[in-house]
Amino acid sequence: MSAIKSFFVALWTQLRIFMSGIAGLARLIAMAIESLIGSGGSIRSRLTARLTSADGQRAIFDIARAFAPNVVLSTKLIAAYDNSGTVLVTRFDDVKDVLSRDQDFEVVYAPRMMQITAGRNFFLGMQDTPDYTRDTTNMRLAVRRDDVLTIVKPFAAKRAAELVEAKTGRIDVPQDLTLRVPAQLLGAYFGTPGPSERQMIEWTTLMFWYLFIDLGADTELDARALDAAAQCRSYLDAAIQDRKAHPSSNDDVLNRCLAMQQAGLPGMDDLGIRDNLIGLIIGAIPTTSKAAVQALDQLLDRPDALAGAQGAAQSDDDELFARYAFEALRFNPVNPVIYRRATRKTVIAPHTLRSVEVPQSSMVLAANLSAMFDRLKIDDPNGFRIDRPADNYILWGDGLHACFGAHINRALIPAILKPLLRQRKLRRAAGPAGRIDSDNTPFPVHMWLEFEAV
Ligand code: HEM
Repeated sequence: MSAIKSFFVALWTQLRIFMSGIAGLARLIAMAIESLIGSGGSIRSRLTARLTSADGQRAIFDIARAFAPNVVLSTKLIAAYDNSGTVLVTRFDDVKDVLSRDQDFEVVYAPRMMQITAGRNFFLGMQDTPDYTRDTTNMRLAVRRDDVLTIVKPFAAKRAAELVEAKTGRIDVPQDLTLRVPAQLLGAYFGTPGPSERQMIEWTTLMFWYLFIDLGADTELDARALDAAAQCRSYLDAAIQDRKAHPSSNDDVLNRCLAMQQAGLPGMDDLGIRDNLIGLIIGAIPTTSKAAVQALDQLLDRPDALAGAQGAAQSDDDELFARYAFEALRFNPVNPVIYRRATRKTVIAPHTLRSVEVPQSSMVLAANLSAMFDRLKIDDPNGFRIDRPADNYILWGDGLHACFGAHINRALIPAILKPLLRQRKLRRAAGPAGRIDSDNTPFPVHMWLEFEAV
């Protein structure tokens, strides 16, 4: 491309980013007016709900990318972890940059991880240390990539199909399907079913909420989460002792951990196994369910995409079906931001007009939702497209701490949704029942759909 053409293409792209910012502002004003004249709850609660919805967040990020891509605030938005202020980062390249600079931007979760285990840290709370390498390496030997196709996907596909088949035309998606499949996977694959499916769902949900979402440090929630953690620890301690006392030939994660203990691998004493298992299971249930429900919710809002996904499900085109699911999730990912703390005074986007100086100890919010709508990286960002390259997506982190379960997610989420999407005339139940109801939690608790069984 000639220099002149490049110049005009760059100018046009910048202009479109600017116009998206104006459009975002118009959407926010419309949301404010709707909140003023709407009914149900106070104006403030209606407005908060609109601004924190996926649409509201995307509008805010459109404005930020256009007018202030990197913002430094002296306000502390996160109380759960020590910090001195907040930095919001919204451009694709800058989000990736923050998540790749472990020396400058550290994970903060250690204090709460250590509350959960009542002792040691778990690898998501560790910096790039020998312990991090030891624990991730051990757990990669126990949770193997090969298992995704041989164990995880077939198990999830079978269970999801059975759960959908048991329903006659009406389903509460989180309660009847998306929470149940990952909870049952913990039993079949990890070897830790818990006292009951319901109990595992409740414990992992509370612990996940405490670690990653309780940004305001709510004392009542914290007490409930730590109580859940204590019960979960006792259960896992007993499960480990029980398996040692009554060995089984199951090829599951717990047995593999015990085999590694017998072989004398460092970090695999009973406590090490328990703490690693607790860290993994926290990530597995509420996230998977939330991703599946939010992807489905976005598909239901787009009749063409829904028809495409249903066609792919009905013709067993798993690769195509997964593309629909993950493109839908791009519009409302499980986590819209990933946070890190600056270990020292440093700079984001140096030598650019959007360069900002980040004070030491600032909490840096790397907005992956925003990054996935950055026109400088993503073609036609507001379009629903199933031909996007994989590197357009930041759905489960990036860099050193990118999701341990990423390969599992790619198979598990579509496998859970596919049997439901195969049903004819799939639609939302009438009224609020057909919409995601989070029941004052950060996770979908109900969403009723109707269908004609195939
Ligand atoms: C849709 C489902 C999931 C989502 C959206 C998700 C999201 C994430 C994100 C955003 C991170 C990075 C956190 C950060 O950098 O601060 C992460 C890390 C992690 N996830 Fe997931 N996750 C999912 C499923 C799972 C599953 C199924 C497992 C367990 C098998 C799991 C285990 C982990 C672990 C252990 C880490 C830490 C990795 C490390 O520190 O190296 N996640 N996940």
